[in-house]
Amino acid sequence: MSVAVGMAFAGILFPPSADAAKNPKDVRRATVQVSEFGHLPDGSTVHLYTLANAKGSVAKIISFGATLTELWIPDRTGRKRDIVLGFDNLEGYLGKDPYFGAIVGRYGNRIAKGLFTLDGKQYSLAINNPPNSLHGGTSGFDRKNWQGQPLEVEHGAAVKLTYHSADEEENYPGNLDVSVTYTLTDDNELKIQYSATTDKPTVLNLTNHSYFNLAGEGTILNEILYLNADQYTPTDATLIPTGVIAPVAGTPYDFRTPTALGARMNALQKEGGYDINYVVNGQPGTLRLAARVKDPDSGREMEVWTTQPGVQLYTSIGLDGSIVGKRGVAYPKSAAFCLETQHYPDSPNRPNFPSTVLRPGQVYTEETIYKFFAK
Ligand code: BGC
Repeated sequence: MSVAVGMAFAGILFPPSADAAKNPKDVRRATVQVSEFGHLPDGSTVHLYTLANAKGSVAKIISFGATLTELWIPDRTGRKRDIVLGFDNLEGYLGKDPYFGAIVGRYGNRIAKGLFTLDGKQYSLAINNPPNSLHGGTSGFDRKNWQGQPLEVEHGAAVKLTYHSADEEENYPGNLDVSVTYTLTDDNELKIQYSATTDKPTVLNLTNHSYFNLAGEGTILNEILYLNADQYTPTDATLIPTGVIAPVAGTPYDFRTPTALGARMNALQKEGGYDINYVVNGQPGTLRLAARVKDPDSGREMEVWTTQPGVQLYTSIGLDGSIVGKRGVAYPKSAAFCLETQHYPDSPNRPNFPSTVLRPGQVYTEETIYKFFAK
């Protein structure tokens, strides 16, 4: 892919790439198209970045929330469907939106009672999920309009989004500069690379909150999940980890043998589905397989690779048909699953969990790849 500099917001398709010529199987070339998605109440423009790869798969990302709004992936017959939940327009994302496709921060997941202590000072966060703080507070990174810039990459199409989170925003310390790069590669991978720096010690836990349904419709109850996780972090009734790192063996949380998502839901602590963090096997900081999901009907498969220590499995328990999403579909319970790669919930209060502290001079870097196949 190559980038036409200076035309970033003119809705351009980038010129033929040398990559496509090198690989005769790449019948198309990867492109990035930039257009307007809508305007915020303050008049600022929300941009839409449409990434298309050489296979014709498409990922759409908007600057508001650095949100993945559409992901078109082929099934075993080559038929493409949009396999993520979301809204047709900006009004949807500004309204009752359960973080569809958004980048969540500063702290994805929960912090108990909205309190944590760092270097002897206590910080108090918004209690937006009583009695806890969830997903960065009342106006987290999912509610911010990021700056987008198409990037020149080989064998794919990419956009980099940046956001400056001011010191004390949502009561978190430190001026934090965050960047998130989405790349749709010609191998049908959606790669998400995160980077951040701060000028004061702070805590940080970024994730992408996409709701996947590999069939592109209905529920995910028959989709089959494998998780590369021997352990998980059991929680109390408010979904705060007890601090114990427990084996999954012998529990309905064990997905080391591929199992339908709906097979054991009635045996779970939380009624109606999964909402739990797993400890991904292997070394945090190295890219390793966290999960594989298959839709037996369409043949679509997704692998999740990540550098993160954990992954939250959330089977959209909160959906109940009241949210009407893209193409007029009312999303029922279990319409989708989320595999939110991240640090464990409430890590700032759990010294035995991998640290989420970021200090001046350090660079936060994480990467997650959602890779798609059709079999
Ligand atoms: C959390 C759920 C929460 C949901 C909101 C997930 O990441 O684990 O508890 O209800 O986000 O969309």
